[in-house]
Amino acid sequence: MPKECKKALKSLEVGAGSGRLSRFLAERGYRTTCLDFSPQALKLAKKYYDAANLIGEFIEGEAGDMPFYDGEFDVVFSTGLLEHFEDPMPIIFEMVRVLRIGGLFYSDIVPKKFGSFVKKLKWSR
Ligand SMILES: C[S@@+](CC[C@H](N)C(=O)[O-])C[C@H]1O[C@@H](n2cnc3c(N)ncnc32)[C@H](O)[C@@H]1O
Repeated sequence: MPKECKKALKSLEVGAGSGRLSRFLAERGYRTTCLDFSPQALKLAKKYYDAANLIGEFIEGEAGDMPFYDGEFDVVFSTGLLEHFEDPMPIIFEMVRVLRIGGLFYSDIVPKKFGSFVKKLKWSR
């Protein structure tokens, strides 16, 4: 039997790839959704979920125009995604749109793969 989701908390990973962080949350009882525009990535994510006997949702879609309601998720996050966009702001706004008020937003970027937007930021030491 797949592990049951104990908590009602819903997470969304945008640009999920193989869904490794979502899997970490699924193992801890989150209801996880992985969104990616690559069907191959989602197929791989599902394969890893199945191997770990976990349940998740896998949605093929565009990060900038996601098929979710406003405030639908308790946690919205991305890793290694935003640095791929010249202007990541529309993606960030879309991620915030589907996040409930008071929810958790998390995003990290891979260093040295910065787009010009990130390069324009003033970094302090
Ligand atoms: C570098 S991978 C990171 C995967 C995963 N988050 C991780 O950290 O292992 C970036 C992922 O974002 C997806 N992606 C890139 N642009 C996207 C877009 N506009 N909409 C949805 N997914 C996108 C790619 O298909 C890829 O799976």
